[in-house]
Amino acid sequence: MLRRPMLTFVASIAAVSFAVVSLLQGGTASAQDPDDKKKFEVTAKHADQECVGCHIQVTPGIVKDHMAGKMGSPTNAKDYVGCDACHGTEHKTKDDYKQARMPTPQTCNKCHKDQVGQYKAGKHNLAWFAMKSQQAWHAQPASIVKQGYRGCSGCHKIGEKGLQGKLSGFDKVTHDGGKEAAEYRYGNAQCDACHTRHAFSKAEAQNPRACANCHMGFDHPQWEMYVSSKHGINWMINPDSGAPTCQTCHMNGGNHEVRTPWGFLGLRLPTKENVLALIKVAPSLKDNLTKLAAGLPSGNYVDVDDDPQWTLDRAMILQAAGLLDDNLQLTARAVEVALQAQAARGPEQFNAERNRMKQICNNCHSKDYVKDFFMASDDIIKQVDNRFAVAVKAVQGLYKDGIIQKPKGWQYGPDLLQYYDAKTGIELELFWITLEYKQRAFQGAFHASNDYMHWYGWSPLNRAVNQILEEEKRMRKEHAMGQKLGVH
Ligand code: HEC
Ligand code: HEC
Ligand code: HEC
Ligand code: HEC
Ligand code: HEC
Ligand code: HEC
Ligand code: HEC
Ligand code: HEC
Repeated sequence: MLRRPMLTFVASIAAVSFAVVSLLQGGTASAQDPDDKKKFEVTAKHADQECVGCHIQVTPGIVKDHMAGKMGSPTNAKDYVGCDACHGTEHKTKDDYKQARMPTPQTCNKCHKDQVGQYKAGKHNLAWFAMKSQQAWHAQPASIVKQGYRGCSGCHKIGEKGLQGKLSGFDKVTHDGGKEAAEYRYGNAQCDACHTRHAFSKAEAQNPRACANCHMGFDHPQWEMYVSSKHGINWMINPDSGAPTCQTCHMNGGNHEVRTPWGFLGLRLPTKENVLALIKVAPSLKDNLTKLAAGLPSGNYVDVDDDPQWTLDRAMILQAAGLLDDNLQLTARAVEVALQAQAARGPEQFNAERNRMKQICNNCHSKDYVKDFFMASDDIIKQVDNRFAVAVKAVQGLYKDGIIQKPKGWQYGPDLLQYYDAKTGIELELFWITLEYKQRAFQGAFHASNDYMHWYGWSPLNRAVNQILEEEKRMRKEHAMGQKLGVH
């Protein structure tokens, strides 16, 4: 239990003043400390003196954090930001606290337009929409994906609620005007993901640990990869050495618009040129490929561009994810996941992001050193896709030959986006490749973590592919025996 100061709320500002100061000092320093006195006088002049005065008893930790932050203790007294600036003044007593407003980035926008504008343009703002775009999201208990924030929603609340796809608009999302957000009392603030309340500290957000509660673990262990790379090791040995952090590479110059070329899934849109080049290799697919190419962006990717084999491998994977249909055309799911949630980029945006990233590396490394790095890392995605496609093809074959049946209610089979809801062992093995091994192999390469790239990524990926091929053989044999014996 927190020990609360023995203070009955009295109107005397002096009494409140003493309480605030002694709480901030853990009760040890004297109230005469000139700095603290100044700090409090600033507060006391403001509209939120009643909020602070009561909350010093109700939630003393919040008041302490608030006073420790720049907004509670600004450089210039006139810049003080009170509780009321973010929570309004409708709630005034201990009984009407449900009247307090909870902030959104719109609340911060009044005073931090640049950061809010950048943030809205970046991928963090799409996190809630992306979560909901997943097939596997729909069947989950609300405690995992909605209120309470104890699973997917706990990390994805960094995104804005209320974004919705517009089927006719292709890559456009619209906003519901606050309807979805209104269903949630808490968790619409977004900005507090890195600058936690109530200190809202810039220094905290500049520390790479600020990203680690979300960018870790199973399918995106960027934290683990970073701290096992030379960059992270150098940062741990000496945080002031200038070793690059997550923020150096992803929020350079304080830019709140985050986005990477390959993104989370190591996915990019095939170009017109990529797809047309495939016709030469697979002439039987000509009609479907010509139709697909018509809707795709034109251009070339920098560093390693797609060759026909890679385009074909990628097509198999996209099909198994329900993003391409049987005739290799984009599905409604592709529009939602790849375009509206921006999981995949076309050449123009990919190349621009890649060049931006290279320039950052170029501050500390030579051009060719950096080029080598990206050529090898792109090639690793290509190798990974090639192995992955072999496994996908084996499972697709089992569906085609009626050895695995599409479960009730599934639109696609196999469906990589059913995650761990897949019904057979061989498909569950595919799931491990999709979200764990493939991810670690290419993300480890990009984060210069050789162990993640190889032993947590490439190695189990190959083990899983071999196991899938072995299992495919066994299932076919069993099926043939069953047919001979007349049991199905
Ligand atoms: C007389 C005491 C009192 C005053 C004055 C007061 N509060 Fe509160 N406030 C409370 C109590 C009690 C709660 C409920 C705390 C709890 O549930 O643990 C609360 C809760 C809150 C909450 C959380 C609401 C929620 O639903 O979780 C916010 C935000 C808040 N107050 C802000 C303010 C602001 C801003 C002011 C000044 C405009 C203010 N308070 C003035 C006593 C007070
Ligand atoms: C009424 C204006 C106002 C509002 C509303 C406001 N801020 Fe601030 N904020 C300021 C001012 C002024 C400073 C600078 C104080 C100083 O440096 O003296 C600041 C500083 C900051 C800093 C930098 C702190 C540091 O350690 O340097 C962060 C981060 C921040 N605000 C985040 C937010 C967030 C998040 C919100 C919304 C939940 C928000 N602010 C709402 C005025 C505001
Ligand atoms: C509260 C959880 C959370 C925190 C904290 C967080 N992120 Fe994220 N981040 C996400 C989620 C969720 C996404 C996926 C959003 C999407 O793509 O829809 C994401 C996406 C990203 C992306 C875009 C990847 C892509 O698809 O191109 C980058 C880059 C990124 N985060 C960097 C950071 C950095 C750097 C920090 C720390 C300063 C950080 N994040 C802190 C949850 C978080
Ligand atoms: C710069 C904006 C800002 C200021 C100033 C601010 N808050 Fe908050 N407050 C937030 C944010 C953001 C949340 C989280 C809202 C959410 O989860 O949706 C929050 C949540 C709360 C909560 C409920 C959540 C919890 O953690 O229990 C209470 C209580 C609260 N604030 C009290 C206060 C009090 C008291 C003050 C003044 C000492 C204050 N706040 C000043 C932004 C602010
Ligand atoms: C993914 C983590 C992350 C999130 C989420 C985030 N910030 Fe920041 N913010 C940072 C980092 C990192 C910095 C320090 C940038 C730098 O080094 O200049 C920063 C700095 C700031 C500053 C101080 C600017 C300055 O130079 O003094 C303000 C103000 C701010 N952020 C406001 C916001 C607001 C408003 C939001 C919500 C729209 C937000 N931040 C969300 C990571 C984040
Ligand atoms: C030295 C620079 C650097 C540092 C440090 C760094 N990253 Fe990255 N990050 C990259 C590069 C390069 C990519 C891949 C860019 C591409 O797609 O071409 C990437 C990709 C990402 C992605 C997209 C998925 C992926 O992993 O490929 C996320 C999310 C991300 N980083 C978050 C983080 C977080 C969080 C940290 C800190 C724990 C971090 N990064 C540290 C350079 C860095
Ligand atoms: C530990 C926090 C965390 C949990 C739990 C979590 N995610 Fe994520 N999610 C992230 C982060 C961080 C990213 C961005 C990683 C990257 O870019 O490498 C992300 C990325 C995504 C993306 C990709 C967005 C894009 O544009 O590429 C989707 C979709 C997604 N998550 C859905 C879900 C679903 C559905 C669940 C629950 C079944 C879930 N996530 C659980 C943190 C989390
Ligand atoms: C702020 C400076 C800085 C930035 C920015 C930076 N690096 Fe580094 N990098 C270093 C230092 C210092 C080392 C350690 C050099 C050594 O091993 O002697 C290093 C090491 C490396 C290594 C060798 C790792 C190993 O295990 O041998 C690679 C690869 C690398 N960086 C790639 C990159 C890439 C790619 C980027 C951009 C995405 C980048 N770096 C950005 C400073 C930086």
